[in-house]
Amino acid sequence: MKYSKYSAVIIGSGIAGLYSALKIEQQANLPDGLLLITKSRLGESNSRYAQGGMVAVMKENKSDSTASHISDTIKAGAGLSEFNTVKFISENSDKVVHDLLKFGVQFDCDENNNLCFTKEAAHSVRRILHSGGDATGRMIEQALCKKVKENSNIEIYEQTVATELLVSNSKCKGLVVFNDLTQEYETIYASAIILATGGIGQLYKYTTNPVGATGDGLALAYNAGAVMQDMEFVQFHPTALAIDGEENRFLISEAVRGEGAKLCDADGLEYMSQYDERKELAPRDIVTRANFNEMMKNHTDNVYLNATCIESSKLAKRFPNISKKCLENGIDIAHDFIPVAPAAHYFMGGVKTDLKGQTSINGLFAIGEVASTGLHGGNRLASNSLLECVVCAYAAADYLKTLELNAPKQIDEEIKSEIDKYKNEDEVLEELDTKSLKSTLQDIMWDYVGILRDEKSLTTALEKINKIQFPRKSKCLSRDEYEFRNMLTVAKLVASCALSRKESRGAHCRTDYPESREECIHSIITKEEGVPEFVK
Ligand code: FAD
Ligand code: SIN
Repeated sequence: MKYSKYSAVIIGSGIAGLYSALKIEQQANLPDGLLLITKSRLGESNSRYAQGGMVAVMKENKSDSTASHISDTIKAGAGLSEFNTVKFISENSDKVVHDLLKFGVQFDCDENNNLCFTKEAAHSVRRILHSGGDATGRMIEQALCKKVKENSNIEIYEQTVATELLVSNSKCKGLVVFNDLTQEYETIYASAIILATGGIGQLYKYTTNPVGATGDGLALAYNAGAVMQDMEFVQFHPTALAIDGEENRFLISEAVRGEGAKLCDADGLEYMSQYDERKELAPRDIVTRANFNEMMKNHTDNVYLNATCIESSKLAKRFPNISKKCLENGIDIAHDFIPVAPAAHYFMGGVKTDLKGQTSINGLFAIGEVASTGLHGGNRLASNSLLECVVCAYAAADYLKTLELNAPKQIDEEIKSEIDKYKNEDEVLEELDTKSLKSTLQDIMWDYVGILRDEKSLTTALEKINKIQFPRKSKCLSRDEYEFRNMLTVAKLVASCALSRKESRGAHCRTDYPESREECIHSIITKEEGVPEFVK
């Protein structure tokens, strides 16, 4: 096995990973260099598909204030957001937008070159920046990828899967990676390891997330002993295009509702006023449950989004990709209703971190969707995720510049024995049918750990998940196998934390405990304890 060492290693090349790489390179002292690894091609990530935009409380937006953004975030978060985190992220938004502009990111502007702001659900004012109309993620990601590729101080490994974090004496000292093309393993020693591995959408049958969202970083951190927080909180987006055929469902951005589109049944009957006075712009969990309830009530596989009330030239300009995708499926959004249904979209839980990205394990950091900073609480406010990625990457780089980032000089004995397993042959040599294994798990999660849960469904889920056989004891044969192993680990955590939280709050809706408890508490789980605890 090859060995190497770096001052810092970033795992993941979505917006959190790319921006971390640029900021750490700019800020920190890196005597042993900086490495960015990613399991597919650079930039392939959830980030690439972000549509609606990025929240920013900009000084020039006179109708907005951090107080208003903080209040909206906390309201949407169903009481579980951490005030200090929300304040920190909101107050740093203007600064990071200016920094992104310096890295070549372009946000949409009006004819006078003023930034355009849109609105999404549960925001009290227009404060969401967008780019390329409805291609915000792709535009930011492309600009950052370009800068990363141009920067000769950032080494890049593509098609490389992180398979294990190496911890000894309570410090994360490195990781093992597997090259999916050459099938070779490498042990990398580093002073700081930054997880930026994204979310878990692929655990569910219906999701807006692309194939790589398999919860790898969560499983790696949990297995390394990190504290995991609020693992029961999965956000389901109310309006994914209800047409199958690919591994995920195409998103119809909330910004379409922000611009005036209405939810209705096949006859055009609008129903949102029966569920919430904010109607289509109620928080995401409420709109998702409304759509789900309408589908159950009418025994249909979808509801409809009616965007025909928006002027057709505006639709084409603001939502070019949504218009195109719908047209490819025979739907002209200026004239036809769009069939939509809820789908797993975002993970509010994650590896518990402070505002510097520091996890409970010394040397291990987590940024972006893999982290649980306390911003989103029980239900993420739309377009707060991209903001969290960049503010937390900026803050982590600021912190890393205060540290001596010398890679450990030699491999610890404890770690040597740990990595020996990668040299051994596994007893099962043929590749597993991961496609069918993944699909079985996705069905279980959708049916029993989905939008509505109760004790019976969650117990059934755990029984079924525990019955899934995964024969590999040590190493796997492919990226797919590693991903499935991670999905299994994370699925158990989500189901067991959901079973333990005996209340409904935000996206966690227990039909057997419909009320929220008075006290807002986080769930915490570690590998050592094995069962969720609840803490203030
Ligand atoms: P990701 O962008 O998911 O990147 C994770 C990276 O880690 C990938 O490069 C992946 O390949 C790599 N990786 C994972 N595991 C491993 C491993 N084991 N080894 C090596 N590499 C690994 N949020 C908003 O704020 N606004 C929006 O408008 C918005 N729209 C969205 C639309 C869609 C369709 C989706 C799916 C999400 C949207 N979100 C939006 C959410 C937001 O895009 C994500 O939360 C955010 O981009 C996450 O960024 P990230 O860098 O943390 O993770
Ligand atoms: C959307 O555009 O609807 C997604 C926004 C988000 O997930 O924040």
